[in-house]
Amino acid sequence: MKVINTVEQLHSELANYKKIAFVPTMGALHEGHLSLIRKATSLNADAVVLSIFVNPTQFGKNEDFDKYPRTLDADLEKLTELASPPDFVFVPSVAEVYPDGIPTQLEPRAGAVGSVFEGAARPGHFDGMLHVVNWFFRTVNPQLAVFGAKDAQQLYLIKRMVHREFVDSIQIVEGETVREESGLALSSRNRFLSEMGRISAPLIYANLKLVEVEISNGATISQALEQGRNALQGISLAKLDYLALVDKSTFKPVDDGFRGEVLLLVAVVLDGVRLIDNLTFSIQEPA
Ligand code: PAF
Repeated sequence: MKVINTVEQLHSELANYKKIAFVPTMGALHEGHLSLIRKATSLNADAVVLSIFVNPTQFGKNEDFDKYPRTLDADLEKLTELASPPDFVFVPSVAEVYPDGIPTQLEPRAGAVGSVFEGAARPGHFDGMLHVVNWFFRTVNPQLAVFGAKDAQQLYLIKRMVHREFVDSIQIVEGETVREESGLALSSRNRFLSEMGRISAPLIYANLKLVEVEISNGATISQALEQGRNALQGISLAKLDYLALVDKSTFKPVDDGFRGEVLLLVAVVLDGVRLIDNLTFSIQEPA
């Protein structure tokens, strides 16, 4: 495992590899990230590249870019402990990624999907995220890239960008959400949960499962969502931002009677900590 800080060094190291698998991260690595790396190393690539970069353009004015956990030494230690560590860990500086300074105006790549759900709560976030992922794709030039399913809106937008701007030349591989035994999805933000928040947090996923069961038992989408919203609002210390069911192929909310693959999306602020999660399932014609 080699740590690289510059684009120049990266290009000279990667020059002889044909098939590169890439895992972009912002560090503060947990088991969820490690599972993405395991996935990348299972893809028979010639080299696996992991990036660690806390991207300033995907943080809003009121978001804590400065407070985002930066734990490089601990991250590198976790990586070396893996049975198959990534071949390269690319840790560029802000100046390396943004040599002309941090742009204030970004290409509005995310469009309408970028301003709903997480995008409504974090204006500009998805344009910043797509900007940096685009930069990494052009810099690392991977054939495969692994992203977690937990960030469903991010994953949807990245797939769409790869289709539109990279003519599907990068295969986006989805890494399953890793959960604690309680069902709580792993997230770098879980470390900020209060004691009470920790106790309530698993109820988020439990309620997603309940909504799925309700729908498969014949409840209408609107009934199941209303029930789910009421239950989530009832969790102690929780402020529900959204619970929504969207068509997996368009990211648009679906109405009663919809049939096909859906994503049930949730965001809850729990004692001040914003948590997101999702569940994907298929709604079939009743037997
Ligand atoms: O999911 C993340 O950690 C970030 O949004 C990503 C994809 C590394 C881009 O900064």
